[in-house]
Amino acid sequence: MYINFWYPAGLSTGITATPVRRRMLGQDFVLWRDSAGKVHCLANTCCHRGGALAGGKIVEDEVQCPYHGWRFAGDGRCTRIPSLGRDARVPARVRVDAYPTEERYGLVFAFLGDLPEAERCPIMDIPEYQGNVIAPGWAATIQHFEWDFNFQRSIENGIDGAHNEFVHPTHGFSGDREDIRIATEDYRWLDTEWVTGFFSSRRAPPLADAKMREASGRTTDAVISGGTGHHGVASLWTLIHPTPQMSIHQYLFEAPVDEARTSLYLVNLRNFLIDPSEDERMKTRNAVVAGQDRDVLQDLRPVLTPESRAREFFTPSDAAIGKYRDKLAQWEARGWRIDMDEVNRNARKVAYAIPSPARREHKGWILDAVPLYPARPAAAAARPAAGPAA
Ligand code: FES
Ligand SMILES: [Fe+2]
Repeated sequence: MYINFWYPAGLSTGITATPVRRRMLGQDFVLWRDSAGKVHCLANTCCHRGGALAGGKIVEDEVQCPYHGWRFAGDGRCTRIPSLGRDARVPARVRVDAYPTEERYGLVFAFLGDLPEAERCPIMDIPEYQGNVIAPGWAATIQHFEWDFNFQRSIENGIDGAHNEFVHPTHGFSGDREDIRIATEDYRWLDTEWVTGFFSSRRAPPLADAKMREASGRTTDAVISGGTGHHGVASLWTLIHPTPQMSIHQYLFEAPVDEARTSLYLVNLRNFLIDPSEDERMKTRNAVVAGQDRDVLQDLRPVLTPESRAREFFTPSDAAIGKYRDKLAQWEARGWRIDMDEVNRNARKVAYAIPSPARREHKGWILDAVPLYPARPAAAAARPAAGPAA
């Protein structure tokens, strides 16, 4: 798991003036909305005796620890220690990590890391939104799933063009056809600082849902175009065009709960059957398809992707996964990968916090930052290029 990315922490409607606990990257956070409507996200562990802040309450827009009532403002500063007396000064060192938040597409995002704003990977853009408003001609649905698989396994599944044929009977032909070779030589690749992906076409059956099939006007197999890729460590975009006029654009924002569990928010845009009464139809289809992926992903072994490519056999259709892993290796080399072996080794002895931007300004934090794999020079970080295993 990696610090220094924006992660979805919940639906906007789910974050209110009552504090809620969210687990991400194997750590706990408390979120609440203040009276001005701004969402705050702090590390959940109180720096007094380790109380869980989310078990407390919000008083004057600040979270009050349930154990001894210390209060923390949205910027993480402790503003009140009741046992010291009414007007006592609170030492500056008494603070917890506070994380930047932003609301987009009906979701609350938290930036879990200490990177300065100018250097951050942006939240994945959804071009069909103008600000937080859906563009004319489009309809959106949002769905949340939380399942027992590792986030990297899930992103790699999303950019894996070869699984559709077998995992999704509605997307392919369940292995019944001989001519399903993935023509990676025809892929059009995309590779930028934060994103890799590809555009391609494939043969697909007519749409499974009768009303959607009718809207498509297509009742036979056809070659359809699309594209998919990752954005940062844990977001995924998939563009599907069942006909040249018809678009299903899916944006999946994932947050690792921990190494073995993942929270997924699926924002689905469509440019057909856009009446809100059709939302449930779209959500039902998406839930079926996502469930097919889940059934495969939760049984993959090992639970985490192998550290060595020699422990898997790569084919040309796995090249997108190789490119994604190359990016992860670069981000690890920047010192962003959490050393979970060390975290787990100390699990009962140390309450860690994900480092927040304020750690670059203030010294003397009470909680330890999570251990990270050491940053390495760029050259040493290079891994073999994606391709068939030697
Ligand atoms: S543990 Fe939070 S106030 Fe004491
Ligand atoms: Fe899938």
